[in-house]
Parts: sequence; C-alpha cells; structure tokens
Amino acid sequence: MSSDRTFYVTTPIYYVNDVPHIGHAYTTIAADVLALYHRMAGDRVLFCTGTDEHGQKIQATAQAKGMTAQELADRTVENFRRLWEVLHITHDDFIRTTEPRHERVVQAIFQKLIDQGDIYKGTYEGLYCVPCETYVPESQMGEGHTCPDCRRPLQPMTEESYFFRISRYQEALLKFYEENPDAIQPRSRYNEVVSFIRSGLNDQSVSRTTLKWGIPVPGDERHVIYVWFDALINYLTVCGYPDDEERMAAFWPAVHHLVGKDIIRFHCVVWPAMLLALGLTPPRKVFAHGWWTVEGEKMSKSKGNVVDPFEMVDLYGVDAFRYFLLREVAFGNDGDFSELAMVQRINSDLANDLGNLLNRTLQMVERFQGGRVLGATEKEPLDEEILAAAEATRRTYDEAMGEFAFDEALKALWTLIGKGNKYIDTTMPWKLGKEGRSDRLAAVLSTLCTVLRLAALLVSPVMPATARTMWRQLGLEGTPEEAGFAAADSPFPAGIIVAKGDVLFPRIDIEAWKEARAAREIAKSFDPDPGEHEEEISIDDFRKVELRVARIVAAEPVPKADKLFRIDVDLGYERRTIVSGIREYYKAEDLVGKTIIVVCNLKPAKLRGVESRGMLLAAESCRDDSLALLTLDGAMALGSRIH
Ligand code: ME8
Ligand code: MG
Repeated sequence: MSSDRTFYVTTPIYYVNDVPHIGHAYTTIAADVLALYHRMAGDRVLFCTGTDEHGQKIQATAQAKGMTAQELADRTVENFRRLWEVLHITHDDFIRTTEPRHERVVQAIFQKLIDQGDIYKGTYEGLYCVPCETYVPESQMGEGHTCPDCRRPLQPMTEESYFFRISRYQEALLKFYEENPDAIQPRSRYNEVVSFIRSGLNDQSVSRTTLKWGIPVPGDERHVIYVWFDALINYLTVCGYPDDEERMAAFWPAVHHLVGKDIIRFHCVVWPAMLLALGLTPPRKVFAHGWWTVEGEKMSKSKGNVVDPFEMVDLYGVDAFRYFLLREVAFGNDGDFSELAMVQRINSDLANDLGNLLNRTLQMVERFQGGRVLGATEKEPLDEEILAAAEATRRTYDEAMGEFAFDEALKALWTLIGKGNKYIDTTMPWKLGKEGRSDRLAAVLSTLCTVLRLAALLVSPVMPATARTMWRQLGLEGTPEEAGFAAADSPFPAGIIVAKGDVLFPRIDIEAWKEARAAREIAKSFDPDPGEHEEEISIDDFRKVELRVARIVAAEPVPKADKLFRIDVDLGYERRTIVSGIREYYKAEDLVGKTIIVVCNLKPAKLRGVESRGMLLAAESCRDDSLALLTLDGAMALGSRIH
C-alpha cells in the first residue's frame, strides 16, 4: 500500500563528550520504532539522528584529554554510529554539526536573521554555567549562585554578543500553541511551556567570544555561534533547507521531535521562535519523554552505575532490550532500569507468551498436517471471536502508536497473544488431531497462523529481527517490513509450509543469572575508567574500610568465568577465599607468594558457586589497560591494619 502521507522523526543530536548510555539508546530506539511503524503503514518517512559537536563543553573535555575538539568528536562519533548499528537503528541520515553542509545552513540562517533585524549586536553580562552552556537568570539560580540544573557554581561573564530577538515572537508562539494543543506532549509539558512563554521571553544570546570551537558568525569572526542555535538547525539541514524544496515541502512541518524532558525549553520555545522568524511553521510535535534511573538511583559516572547499552545487547539480545525499554514505562513518564525486571519480562512476555504461542502452533502444524497450513472449512464461533479480537487489537495498536504510547500498543498486542494461548487450551488441537477431526483441526491451526502473522507484523517495529524469524517460521515470503501492515488484510493463505526453528527466546534461569551477574560486577570493578573523581568522604567514612596485609597462598581460575581467579589469602589470624577479576592481568603462578592489601569487611558474595570474602586492592592505569596489585614497602606481619 502506498500513501502520500509523510512522517519526519528526529532524535536530539547527542553531545560527543560522553559515551552513549541507555538514555541515548532509549530516545533513538523510540524514534526508530516510529519510523518503522510509519514505513510499514505505507508512509514516506524521514528519520534523522546525529551528533552535536561544537561548544564549550566539547572543547573543555577535549582539552582535559589532551586532544583537539575535532579529534574528540571524530573518536566519539564512532561510538554512537556503532551503537546504532548494534541496536538495528534504521535512520535515513546521520548528521554531525561539524559537517560543511550544516555549517553553511547555520551561517545562512544567522545572516538572514541579521538582515531582517531579528539578530542584533549587544553586550551580555551575567552568571554562566560552563558545563550546561547557559547563562542563568537571577530568578532561577540555586543557593549561593549555583546552576539550578547541575548545582555547580556559576561564573560571572561579560561579553559582546549577538542576540536573537525572541521577544518579537512571543505572541505568535502563544497563538501557535493555542491552535495546536498537541504540538507539545505530554500535556503537562505543554502547560509548563505555555506558562513559561506567558511569563515573558527575553532576547537570547546567540554568540560567544569566549571560545573558538564553533561556527563563526558571518562577517564577524571573533564570535562563534552559540552551540544550541547551531544544534537546533540540524533538523532543517537534514531536511534539505533551504535548497531542496521538494524535500522541505514533503516533510516540513510534518516533523516530530523526540527529546528528553531536559531540553524542552530549547525545543518548544527557542526553536519554534527561530522557525517563525524564518517564516516556517513550528514542528508538528515535540514529545518529551521521561528520565531513566538505574535500580532507583540517578545514573552517574562516579556512582559507576551507567548502563552500557552495548553490554545489555550482548547479554540479552537487541530485541529484548528494545522491547523492555518501550514496554516497561509509558513514554513520557520516568522509569527505572533494572536488569532483573528485564530478565523477568524476557521470561514471561517473550519466552512464555509470544515464544510459546508460535512454538505450540507450529509444532502441531508439523505433527498433524505435515507442516502444511490448510484452509479453514469447519469454522466455529470461537474462531470468529479471536479473529475479531485480532482486528480490534490492530485498531488499538494503531491508535496507541499514533499517540506514541508504545507501552499501550504492546499491552494490546500481548492481550491478543494471551488470548491466542487460551484459544489453544480451549480448542485442544492435539485432541482434534488424535480424534482425526482434521477439518476442525485445519480451521484452528489456520486461525492461529492468522493471529501469529498479525503478531509478527505488529511486533516488527519494536523487535524487527524477532518478527523476521516469526515470518520465516510461518513460511511467509519476504519480511514483515517489506510486506507492511496491509499483509494482515487477508486470511492466512492455505498451502503454506511452515518451518519451525529454534525457540524465539530461551528462558533465563534466575539463580544462574544472579550468580553470573555478581561475577560481572566484580570483573567490572577492574575496568579502567580514567579521569572521574568520586564525591568527598569524611575520615570516618574512610575508617569504615578495614584494610589489612595478606599473602596470596593459592590462585586458580574460576571455571566458566574467563576474568575471575579464586584466590586464597593468609591474614595471619585466618585464611579466606576471595574471587577477583584480575585474570586478564596476572598468571596464577605469579600471584602466589605476593604480599598484598585486602579489604576485609566487604560483604561476602557468592560468585559462580564460590563464596568471596573480601577484595584485593590494585591500581589501574589511567593511560592504558594495565593493572598492578598493591604491595608493601618492607616486610610486615600478616594481618597488620592499614590506616
Ligand atoms: O542535550 N533518561 O545532548 P545530550 C532518558 N546536544 N533519556 C536520556 C537520559 C536519561 N537518563 N540521559 C540522556 C543534548 N537522555 C544536546 C541536544 S538537540 C538539537 C541538542 C537522552 O548528549 C534524552 O533524549 O546531553 C536527552 O534529551 C538527550 O539524551 C540529551 O543528550
Ligand atoms: Mg545532557
């Protein structure tokens, strides 16, 4: 089916001073699901993502690492590109703000706004937050002149600056939002933005003389263009502005910006005002999703709890990860990431509900019908009932996707999957098979295949690889993505040969998983992560750590854990076993006899069946991957305390 409807979806372009984590993965996966959904619905789609590479923050990070900003960007951008590959993201374009195609557009827009009097030169005095790249007005400052967002101290700054006359667009903006109440979602964010605009807009500083790393102001090279002004324009650059009129006409203003709630003001106030100044309609929708915490805590490098999406995909597979993020919390709400919750969903929703429905059905098609799906001649009301439920599910799913309510779409689909499993329990096809009621059996199995084909289609935007496997096992040609949702319009074709294969999602044994996870934590405590400082602690905090001198008396590899050693240490007054993740760095025979430092009062943990009581201390290099155990400068009695 083809359609002349268009759908343009974007993610924020991510800063290149950081490694990608689940927050970035989340927004990008959500955008990918929308893009896939609209492509399967027959719409013409443009889906863009990219990186935000200019500004103070990038320059400072580069300096701290001893490289140029461009080198830092060139290096970090690869992490994002690689992650999008691993997550099977299907973006049409990836923009870097340092690309000439972008710099040209930014300068042209800046010049146009100067020419029409929307940008003017003035001076700016104020308190500035360097990490957040913003001046903070008096009314929003935290205690003792700190940044309300990151709580760090603000720096006084005075600079000559260009200003964007945003005040001129206040009324037009309010009128736009009045007429387009769905342009900002969720509703609470809409109200927040509208009352912010009502409180009055001050002209925005859009240039800096204090740094070099940015796009020069045309004709006044002492200034570089403010990083947010530069970054927001990426959404126009990828849409072909101003030269590609066909593309602009097709996709503007059918643009949907997915953003975290941290950056709504830029997207809902500054950006639409810039667009109004350019004579363009503001975006059709800005959807601000919520914030992920991890096991109940804010994600931070110093806490060491940043969830690495590469690792999650490695451990659980890309589709399970995508499914979990979108199913677990309503888009727009905050959510908490917990690996255990993900494992439980894999076992219940994916292995038990979806996997079983496919597996049970195909098993019976093979056992009783030689693998062939037959026509449905002997139909009963039960069949009509579940087929009607399938149709209704399709409608609910469409409505939910239209509102970006991914969790609702998936819930509706899983209700149908549950009905499918119940339908098997009620119709008992194995009994029909044994009793030789082949016409009735054919109708039941054909009905199930119709439901499963729809399930494969509706699952596809969220779990594309799984949907392809289902499709293949159902004996269907091509892929669900190529077929599109229209493929569900007709009954399942008779005569198709199914091809049952491996189960979709093997069940995870929770006990084994818990042990493996603890082992991973230990191994990770030795992963070098240079340059990050911990929060301050008091001397009393430090005293709580019981450090003592010990000697290694035995070391052997822990089976099935390639990073772990089982190490026996002598503390003089006792011997104990410690599991340590240093196997990549030491040979067992080199460890025995070493005098080392041990944390004695660490809570015991069971790893791969071995109880670990304590921890060894080692230094990890901030330059490369090397590691060295702490030893003593002189002989000391075993068990001596370290202060
Ligand atoms: O703000 N939970 O880039 P950025 C959910 N370059 N989403 C999260 C998250 C979390 N804990 N942490 C980050 C910038 N995100 C600018 C954008 S756009 C013209 C310029 C996601 O690298 C969320 O989408 O700080 C958030 O808005 C974005 O990452 C911020 O990425
Ligand atoms: Mg940020």
